[in-house]
Amino acid sequence: MEQSKIEALIQEMTLEEKLGQMTQLGAYYWGVDPSVDLTGPLNEMKVTAEDVKNVGSTLNYLGAKEVKALQDRAMAEHRLHIPMLFMADIIHGYKTSFPIPLALSCSFEPQNYENATSVAAAESAASGVQLTFAPMSDLVRDPRWGRVMESPGEDPYLNCVMTAAAVRGFSGDDIKKKGKVASCVKHFAGYGASQGGRDYNWVDISTNSFRQYYLASYKAALDAGARMVMTSFNVIDGIPSSANKMLFRKILREEWGFDGATISDYAAVEETITNGLAENGEDAARRCIEAGVDIEMMSTNYINYGKKLVEEGRLSMELIDQAVRNILNLKNDLGLFENPYKDASEEDEKTLHLCSEHRRLALEAAQQSIVLLKNENQTLPLKKGVKIGVAGPFASSDNTSGGWALINGKDESSLAAGFRKAGVEFVSAMDQSVVSMSEGSFDVEDEAESAMEAMQDCDVLIAAVGESPSDTGEAASRAYLRLSPNQEKLVMAMKATGKPVIMVVFSGRPLEIKPVLPYCDAVIQAWFLGTESGNALTSVLFGGYNPSGRLAMSFPQTVGQIPVHYNCYRTGRPYYGQEDHYVSKYLDCPNEPLFPFGFGLSYSKAVYSDLQAEARDGVIRARVTVTNESRIPMKETVQLYIHDLFASVVRPVKELKGFLQIALAAGESRTVEFEVTKEMLKFYNDQMEYVFEPGEFEVMVGPNSRDVEIRKVTL
Ligand code: GLC
Repeated sequence: MEQSKIEALIQEMTLEEKLGQMTQLGAYYWGVDPSVDLTGPLNEMKVTAEDVKNVGSTLNYLGAKEVKALQDRAMAEHRLHIPMLFMADIIHGYKTSFPIPLALSCSFEPQNYENATSVAAAESAASGVQLTFAPMSDLVRDPRWGRVMESPGEDPYLNCVMTAAAVRGFSGDDIKKKGKVASCVKHFAGYGASQGGRDYNWVDISTNSFRQYYLASYKAALDAGARMVMTSFNVIDGIPSSANKMLFRKILREEWGFDGATISDYAAVEETITNGLAENGEDAARRCIEAGVDIEMMSTNYINYGKKLVEEGRLSMELIDQAVRNILNLKNDLGLFENPYKDASEEDEKTLHLCSEHRRLALEAAQQSIVLLKNENQTLPLKKGVKIGVAGPFASSDNTSGGWALINGKDESSLAAGFRKAGVEFVSAMDQSVVSMSEGSFDVEDEAESAMEAMQDCDVLIAAVGESPSDTGEAASRAYLRLSPNQEKLVMAMKATGKPVIMVVFSGRPLEIKPVLPYCDAVIQAWFLGTESGNALTSVLFGGYNPSGRLAMSFPQTVGQIPVHYNCYRTGRPYYGQEDHYVSKYLDCPNEPLFPFGFGLSYSKAVYSDLQAEARDGVIRARVTVTNESRIPMKETVQLYIHDLFASVVRPVKELKGFLQIALAAGESRTVEFEVTKEMLKFYNDQMEYVFEPGEFEVMVGPNSRDVEIRKVTL
């Protein structure tokens, strides 16, 4: 529809209809379930069924048939027949579930994330979804926070690369196209820095860090075409994000020129009252509309107080018109005025959901997201015919999709199913699933003794352990990160048999696995890999796939070490293992993480040689030769880090500025080259100007953030 018609529509709308467009309610409020009496919920929201007829969007209502029916009803009942916008949390898959985003990031292959979101878009669009509340691109440095699973991890550069890939997959180059959905980047901003890793907590981030590290990936999402931005639950600089003009007016609109729509997180407008900012609903509505939040999700202060605020001259109609314009433009760009159902199609649901091509892409992504953390005595890969014992809560559990998986594909998600499909004989024991901590004891029954008896004829023992998928994602913060006591006991009992022990860890975050590490000959970080989890793990365990995953988030030695991330500052008293007492170190724990960012093993060995670096014509160039010194093909992620030695503000001891994943045949050598421009070396100085400063730089290249070779250049 031409822009002039959008403007005409805005002029024709009443104030109530405008405020309705600025509200999002669950489909429930349209009485989609006639058997349910809505009186209570409507009263609680202080709205009437008449008000609901003006509401402009809904969330997490799925199904081609259901969405079409609701759209028909909503448009028929709306005076101007404006189509509704159907939004949903399609984070890492719809029917075909892909690895959690933190795992996808460990593949260091953006194409995997793009494939995941492209499949998720196609499958969910067929079920009526038009916009997804994704990608989540919050920078995370604290695994106590349950939502690290949704994030691309601790590094700003990797987050930008992965976030842009996610938006490309969801939205492509035109959200109107079939099988594409609009992207909504979240949570703006800084939510990953919640104090103490406790969800919904406030954040305390210095302006310099906020600008330098936390904002980058949201901007990358917008540059890649995201059309909506969601507020975050946290307070930042004393103001809840949903009422924060610095975020939504200054940075988002003025500095970044964003012209899309914005939406609050769930009831976050209402929570500006709970936070102690707004005095009441009227104040909440005024503050959040003035801050630039176009849609109020699942609270109704805009509907309840917007009219009064305008009539009393305390809120400008211009702000309301702009919010409505942002919303209608988004609906128009999705083509909803011409095709209000967009891609909803029962036929496509049948052909697309869990189709073989989607499962193939999910298997590929899952294989590449697995990280091999330890492999001694060539325990892995396993040889066919070896007698395997598998014990632990994830031996047979098919709930391997993790948080925010709307639907878990069941048939080959478990390790046991993967073994069976591959024709692997195994004995399983002590395999009841671990329950969520919120359901009481999160420990499994102690059946270690009987499990060892059951597996006494096995040659190799696998401990399939981890945390409940329900204990990851939103509202799932943990103050302790160890495996449950009986899971640790199982690993130790396995070791006591004298047989090789392989620990496979299923989690949505780096867990504190140091206590059991000595008892394991091999350790695989399996994250939550989705529909193809069982098949992917089987292929890695038996060498069908040579593990190539590298950590996108550091593993702490202990929870007491958090936050621990690789791109930290040197301090005035750096500790390099010297005897000095007065240096920056713990008395009872190393400074380094247990496993660093970028770390991961393969069944092969890449040898780096002949690193050269030079600065010429304003560009740093580095080249290195990488040789696959093994007899099997491999994928190696060559990583480039930079340390700006001296600047007007201190700079991290290293920052990822490039990575290249290369395939190497057995014995093959390749020379890899990187270029780092002045633009890539810019940072916020002490005047908060984004500048490049000439000087000395360390150039570091290696297989992870720890084992690097260093060269010095001057630019
Ligand atoms: C939740 C989450 C947000 C999600 C929204 C809608 O509270 O914080 O990520 O998109 O509500 O479900």
